[in-house]
Amino acid sequence: MGESARELTEIIETPEGTFTVKLTLDDLGSIYPGMIRYTIEVLHGTTTVYTYAINSYEAPPISLFDTRKAAEIVFARLVHDVASRPEAYVRPRLFTRPLPGTGAADVVILQGSPRRFGNSAKVASWCYDEATRMGLTSRAFYLHEMDIRPCIGCYVCYNHGYCPVDDDMPAIIRALETASVLVVCTPVYTGTVPAPLKALMDRCQWLHAREKILGKEVHARGLLVTVAGRRGAEPFVCVTRVVDMFMKNLGIRPAAPVLIGDLDRAGDVGVIAGAEDDIRAAFRALLTPRDEG
Ligand SMILES: Cc1cc2nc3c(=O)[nH]c(=O)nc-3n(C[C@H](O)[C@H](O)[C@H](O)COP(=O)(O)O)c2cc1C
Repeated sequence: MGESARELTEIIETPEGTFTVKLTLDDLGSIYPGMIRYTIEVLHGTTTVYTYAINSYEAPPISLFDTRKAAEIVFARLVHDVASRPEAYVRPRLFTRPLPGTGAADVVILQGSPRRFGNSAKVASWCYDEATRMGLTSRAFYLHEMDIRPCIGCYVCYNHGYCPVDDDMPAIIRALETASVLVVCTPVYTGTVPAPLKALMDRCQWLHAREKILGKEVHARGLLVTVAGRRGAEPFVCVTRVVDMFMKNLGIRPAAPVLIGDLDRAGDVGVIAGAEDDIRAAFRALLTPRDEG
């Protein structure tokens, strides 16, 4: 067994050929302070047939073993397993859920209201229509009609760039990763966004991880259009900050948000003079090259 800089390598000769089990570590401190990722790979010849990863943010303080120890246990277990039953390791075994291969679009619209024919939905339809007129492809996600679970804070996405929570998020991540425009259409709920949209934002930590780990950078412009029941600026204080933070975390450049208050009945945004024109113009402006100054 070779060991250098706390990395381990074991070469195992078997009737199925030569296997190498490697434990490597990566300092992810530039993403999160003190984050270390341990990766254990099994290679059959030069082909990686199995990969296990664990990072130091996964282990709670009361863990019996620290992350390094856990990685060493997995390493030893894999060395033993490969030697005992090499036939189980001759073909690659993938334990991640890849993103869908299709579903890319120029424009992603996140519609955060449960009201299918409400104000946010109307705004979403204007943006969708405007994109179509401009010859762009769009995907509109009505979040209340999807299964989007809250982030469980496991930090597993920083291992391979995949999230272990099994729901409808992969299609959204796939679309966001390739889109050049993101529009968030949402009502204000108790000062911020409705729960499914907040869940989506938290789950997009997965996209942040993909950007950091896999270099999948998002180069999109973002627009928030938000509606509220009350008048004045106060209802929008929190929602604008939350959505701004969400976009910037992903490298999406937010445009000035469109805020429309004094609106409670579904669809009333359609009768506010100038609202549709303003929103369509704000959408078109996202596609207009601007001074990067
Ligand atoms: C649960 C709930 C919470 C709300 N919270 C606020 C709020 O904090 N401030 C506000 O101005 N309006 C609030 N509203 C009103 C909505 O923002 C408003 O009715 C909006 O036009 C709904 O948009 P939609 O048609 O897209 O659903 C709330 C509405 C609901 C149902």
